[in-house]
Parts: sequence; C-alpha cells; structure tokens
Amino acid sequence: MYPDEMRESLAKVEQNRAFNTAFEPKRMTAEEKETLLKTYHPDYIDGEFAELLVGQNQGEKVPKELAALLQAKSRITSDFDVSRPDYDVDVLIIGGGGAGASAAIEADNTGASVMIVTKLRIGDANTMMAEGGIQAADKPNDSPAVHFLDAYGGGHFAAKKELLYKLVTEAPEAILWLNRLGVEFDKDETGTMLTTHGGGTSRKRMHAAKDYSGAEIMRTLRDEVLNRKIPVVDFTAAVELLLDENGRAAGAVLMNMETQELLVARAKTVILATGGAGRLHYQGFPTSNHYGATADGLVLGYRAGAKLLYADTLQYHPTGAAFPEQIFGALVTEKVRSLGAKLVNADGEVFMHPLETRDVSAASIIRECSDRHHGVHTVEGVGVWLDTPMIERKHGVGTIEKRIPAMLRMFAEYGIDIRREPILVYPTLHYQNGGLDITPACETAVPNLFAAGEVVGGIHGRNRLMGNSLLDIIVFGRSAGRNAGKRAKETGIGTPDLSHLDRFARQLDEAGLTSDAVSPILLPDYARKKVK
Ligand code: FUM
Repeated sequence: MYPDEMRESLAKVEQNRAFNTAFEPKRMTAEEKETLLKTYHPDYIDGEFAELLVGQNQGEKVPKELAALLQAKSRITSDFDVSRPDYDVDVLIIGGGGAGASAAIEADNTGASVMIVTKLRIGDANTMMAEGGIQAADKPNDSPAVHFLDAYGGGHFAAKKELLYKLVTEAPEAILWLNRLGVEFDKDETGTMLTTHGGGTSRKRMHAAKDYSGAEIMRTLRDEVLNRKIPVVDFTAAVELLLDENGRAAGAVLMNMETQELLVARAKTVILATGGAGRLHYQGFPTSNHYGATADGLVLGYRAGAKLLYADTLQYHPTGAAFPEQIFGALVTEKVRSLGAKLVNADGEVFMHPLETRDVSAASIIRECSDRHHGVHTVEGVGVWLDTPMIERKHGVGTIEKRIPAMLRMFAEYGIDIRREPILVYPTLHYQNGGLDITPACETAVPNLFAAGEVVGGIHGRNRLMGNSLLDIIVFGRSAGRNAGKRAKETGIGTPDLSHLDRFARQLDEAGLTSDAVSPILLPDYARKKVK
C-alpha cells in the first residue's frame, strides 16, 4: 500500500528491525528535555499566542485562535427574555461525554433532579475516542504517592497539588466503580487486571479495554445514565450561562442545533463538562479530537467570570497518523509504544526512548522532521515510522490482534498490515492541558458553577500523562456531580439574567476590541452547515 517513494526508507526500517528491537535507547536528561521543548514544542512559539485584553486572565497569553473566541461577542443580547424557563432542574449538566455522564450519575444519587444537554449526542465526545487506558495505582508494587510523583514531574511541577492529590488518591476507587458498572477491563486468566506502562510512568498502572478503552467506558456510563432515566437533551448547545443577582450560576440559554430555536434552562447549579478544543486546530495541526471540541466551555465560563489556568499549554500527541491522508491526525494510541513499538526515522534509526513524556516525544519527532531532515515525506506532509512489527517480535504472534485490534483494523482499511509494516506518524493536537480553574470540590470562581473533564485546567500541570484524562473525567466528574447535587439542596436561586453580557461587552469596547465574531462557535468552521 505504501507508494514507491516511501519504499527506500521502509527497506531501511526492515533491515534494522532486529537490532532496533533489542536496542535500549537512553532517556534524555532534564536539561536535554528543556532545550528540546523550548526549541521544538509548539507551546514555545511566541507568535502563535495572543495576550488577553479583557476578563479575569487579562494580561496572560493564550493561543491566538482561543483569544479570538474568548474576546468575541455573545450570540445573544442581554435583553433576551429568560423569565419563562423551558426547563427547570436542580443540576444542569452541559456536555454529554464521560465527565458529564459521571456527574449525572452521582448528582442523581443525591436525589437532585438532573438534566444533561449536549450539542451532539450523548457519547459524542473525546472520551469515546480515548484508546490506551486509564491510570490507577492499584497493584502491590505501586501507590498513589508514586502515581503523584510521576504525574507531577511529567507536568513540569505545575499541577495544582490538591487537584492532583485528589486524582491519584481516588483513582483505585474509580476503577472499582467502573468495574461495578460493567466496564470490561482486560484481565489475565486469573481475573487480575492487565496493566501496562505509559510515557512517564514508573509503574505499570494503565488499565485498558484493548485499544478502545474510552469507548468501553463511555458505553457503560451512557447505559447507566439512560437506565436511570436521567433526561438527556441531544443536539442542544448552551450558548450562554445565566447568573442571578448574587452572581451565582442559575442556568443557561440553550440552542436547538437543528432549528436554532433558543430555550432557557433554569438550574440551581450548573456543571460545565464541555471537553476540549482540538477542532480549533491550533497552529494548523490536525487533531485526534471529536467534531464538537471547540472550546465552548472556556468561552461560556470566561464570559461569566470564571478564571482560566494554563490556557497557554496544549498537548500534541506524538503519534497521530501521518499516512494515509484519510486518517490524517487520527490517534495512534501510546499503547502501541507501551507494547514495544519504537519510533524510527527515515534512515531506520531509533532516535529516542519510546516512552518519554508526550511533550518531549512530540518535540523530538518535530526536531527529527525539521532541522535534522530525517523525516519521511509524503504528499500530505512528513512523519517518522512507528515500527509496529516489533510488538510481535517481543510478545509473540497474535499480540496485536489481541491488545490493539482497533489499530489493526484502522490501518487494514487502507491496505497496511501493522503486524508486518510500520506506520507513519506525526504529532496531532490531542488535549488542552489548561482550562477552567477549580477547587477540589470542582467549583469555579463563579458560585454554583462547577466544572469537570477536559474543560478544567491545573490537574495535570503543563503536560498530562497518558491515561490520566480518562481518570480525571471519572474522579472529577463524579465529584462535580456529588457536590453540585448537594449544593442544589442548600442554595437559593434568585432571578436569573444575562446582565453579565453587558459588563463583558463594555470591557471589549474599552479595550478597543470591535470584531464582529461571535462565540461559542459550537462547530468547527469547516462545518458543512454553518450554525448562525
Ligand atoms: O495514546 C492514547 O491512547 C491516549 C491516551 C490519553 O490521552 O490518555
């Protein structure tokens, strides 16, 4: 299937495979990593960032595409009548991915009335597309303390310690919870859960359901939400939050994505679980994200007064598919490297340890393909080889089909048998490390506005380790649901309105920001049917 111009390089990879499989590449020193990141990681390209001129993070830099959305106009005006709600609930959850579904289940457990609104369908989310697994220190040679150290170091010592502490200490219970709900984790013949390494882990603590771990988790959570008869309003986006006269979150203005009708949901507490922003294609990168990942929660939260944390740091997954073009940017799970595949350049040389942290791995591939001129060129771009046949040399025939069947199938569609041939990869925009700043109870700076999942920043610092996001949607999703449900019992609700939009519009005027652009954009700007 590979075209002739790639064959010469492929032959070198094959020639060196026996040597490369046994070769133990050395890890980079802290100094080497720092220099590499500063020179090659997209987060360090100053011209790609813009300073915010308004709002709680005024003076801070964020990607310029995000700055444009955070400083755009609302889709509606403050005189929109919100006095006759179409929905009236205790807890309104915006977002139908893993964090939203986990929150709904726990909020339901508190006895609160709960409703999920989602602009696509429940499960159309990055959770569904997560592949490699979920971390939890639940083996005898491991502990939450070791998990903490791995993640804290991997995140450049920038994580909010209290959030990371919560993540790692509640991880084992999260796995038990998922098991009880029915997630089919991979197990050995004795029933013990199989675990592997991820980049930057010092213990094998990645629990997986083959290479469709996110789909398996989302399937289970969605079943639970539907079995409990928690209302889910599909194809309905939140376009603005409501606040009451005390500045507390009090619901949202919604938009039916098909008819564009505006609706009002009044709620005692609101949970933002809107996910990430890959579809903004920062710096022109392809993305592994689902179609609706357009930073909506950051926009809604910011306009209502929530603070952002580390919104200037993004994760470029080192191994996005770089060939063929039909799957350009699609995720090639890190589990492929956990199982023994190494990264190899156009000359057939292993150029780095395969399990460095993601930012370091991505920067290393970018260096190989730019200054060092060791990339493999295709019509669409450039990449390096991920030598998948090494896996079966190491673990035996049948391993790929058993452990990463989705990868096998994805490439087989295009005539590439990953058991026999390597695959071409290049970094793809995968995750926003930053997001809304929250307390350990998942509350933002806006009272009664909670957040969970990828919309949150600070849990992972400035770089996330593999498997810690499936974990955070469960730990923080559940916690947000519990806390929002309890708060709904105690809190009052005043008169919801949209006057914060006027305050924000004044700030934009004063800063001379006069663009006609509106946000949230809800769908990527290449959507076939534009949302007005
Ligand atoms: O490589 C992966 O399977 C991705 C996992 C993650 O982002 O946690």
